[in-house]
Amino acid sequence: MSEKLKYGNWIRKRVLINLGLCASGTWLLAFLPLPNGLRIVAGIIAIILSASFLYPLYAYLMFSPRGGNMQAKIYNLIIESLGQPLRGKALDIGTGNGVLAVRLAQCFPGVRVTGMDYWGNDWEYAKAVCDENARSAGVSERVSFVKGDAAALEFADGEFDAIVSNLTFHEVKSVAQKSEVVKEALRVLKPGGVFAFIDYFYESRYYGQVSDFEARLAQFGLSNVTLRTIDQKLKFPALLRHRRALGRVGILYGQKVNATP
Ligand SMILES: C[S@@+](CC[C@H](N)C(=O)[O-])C[C@H]1O[C@@H](n2cnc3c(N)ncnc32)[C@H](O)[C@@H]1O
Repeated sequence: MSEKLKYGNWIRKRVLINLGLCASGTWLLAFLPLPNGLRIVAGIIAIILSASFLYPLYAYLMFSPRGGNMQAKIYNLIIESLGQPLRGKALDIGTGNGVLAVRLAQCFPGVRVTGMDYWGNDWEYAKAVCDENARSAGVSERVSFVKGDAAALEFADGEFDAIVSNLTFHEVKSVAQKSEVVKEALRVLKPGGVFAFIDYFYESRYYGQVSDFEARLAQFGLSNVTLRTIDQKLKFPALLRHRRALGRVGILYGQKVNATP
């Protein structure tokens, strides 16, 4: 059923198209009857651009439902990491095309899911596609989508029984230290509620050193907290371990015991 959903892709199509066009253009220059020096320079640039195009193309295919289906596998990992059947209200922060929100509703018939995103122009996701995904999966009465900012969620403290998020916190440009976006997510989680987040938790420019991030988490009133690199939880091709793909991505899950300070 989930195969019919429009996932979109974590690699933007327009980035791939631009890189492909640039690489093709420089290959063309390299084979035109131009002075040799110019052709050699064009050839070197063409090789570099081709590598810069082929790697994201490979990642695109591995993430896609028609290729390696990694997006679906990662959503399944998030859902399993919640560790219990859900009831009540769940939130997906930075929902993209809403597939994780829809999958949550499909897995747990007793849950109502909100997917939120700011749906800016820098990504190729849309609220209309979220609504269409919920309709085609037959869960639209239990899933709704709202526009908002993950840095300042327009929800009450402790409003949700479960919260998920995938590859979104590091994208929140208005907050330098991304652990503060995690804190904001946990603010709207009920004491006793569960969470599972995937992000670049092992990338120091977003979260600082892992030990500092763990120390910060310890201040958030959580229990049973687990932080692992994604490759400790999921098998995937070694090529995707590059730091710009999934190399520095981790999963963080657990339960909230106290109100977030
Ligand atoms: C890599 S995409 C991941 C989308 C989705 N979670 C998925 O798994 O396909 C990052 C998402 O974060 C969203 N985003 C970026 N900044 C945001 C913000 N400040 N508030 C809410 N969403 C944001 C983007 O619109 C985009 O949908």
